[in-house]
Amino acid sequence: MVLDAPGTLTPATTTDDAGAAAPAPVVVEAHDVRRAFDGRGVLHGIDLTVRRGEFVALLGRSGSGKSTLLRILAKLDTDAAGTVSVPALPAVAFQDSRLLPWARVLPNVLLGLRDAAARERARTLLDDVGLGDRARAWPRQLSGGEQQRVALARALAGAPELLLMDEPFGALDALTRIRMHRLLRDLVSRYSPAVVLVTHDVDEAVLLADRVLVLTDGRLSLDEPIDLPATGRRSHPGFTALRSRLLTELGVGDDDH
Ligand SMILES: Nc1ncnc2c1ncn2[C@@H]1O[C@H](COP(=O)(O)OP(=O)(O)OP(=O)(O)O)[C@@H](O)[C@H]1O
Ligand SMILES: [Mg+2]
Repeated sequence: MVLDAPGTLTPATTTDDAGAAAPAPVVVEAHDVRRAFDGRGVLHGIDLTVRRGEFVALLGRSGSGKSTLLRILAKLDTDAAGTVSVPALPAVAFQDSRLLPWARVLPNVLLGLRDAAARERARTLLDDVGLGDRARAWPRQLSGGEQQRVALARALAGAPELLLMDEPFGALDALTRIRMHRLLRDLVSRYSPAVVLVTHDVDEAVLLADRVLVLTDGRLSLDEPIDLPATGRRSHPGFTALRSRLLTELGVGDDDH
């Protein structure tokens, strides 16, 4: 796995020797993924391809199977039918930071990585998330938002090709969430993993992603690119239009919101 130089944004297409745009390499390839629990079907045949540099948001009502699909992509659930091809070590981040309480911040970020390059990157990432001076703190000495920033640094420390996130900002207050959105966008553009972000927050999806999926009744009922500028999205007319469409797709009218 090769990390781009900081500041380099890897788009979902690359340019070949002849200068023509070629699709970026595939990072996630899932075909006909099905999952049932106790005979009750939750996923009924999911096909999904995610390419390098893509930021995909996965929306769906509560209980629609978002976390189930993410766990399958993370190889945390191996009982699903169908085929899933993902990089060997995808990084995963959850709603709670899941830091090890008995380890200080830096070892938490390193989490078993021992080489000097990883240590260097972990220190840089701690600086990136604004916690460079807290490397020796214990997780319990950090606020919820700080812990989540450490978790983000940890997720990226192994230079993953794929970053899978399940409502990573769900437990944060609105202000911290906005800061985390900026931070995540910045880190993703700098380290360029493919990202799959599970969220039930339509605004979060439209603000962050460049492609959005909606899971309905065990199938992807919507899969389309988000064609909005990288910054200033909230004030873009396309933001409101897409937001309304997604709310409708999720079965929630604008008026209910
Ligand atoms: N280990 C399990 N055993 C039995 N049923 C499960 C298991 N995991 C998930 N389910 C069921 O599968 C369905 C989908 O669950 P999942 O957690 O994927 O939903 P979700 O879309 O992530 O919902 P939320 O937005 O509330 O997090 C639910 O009905 C849930 O009860
Ligand atoms: Mg869930």
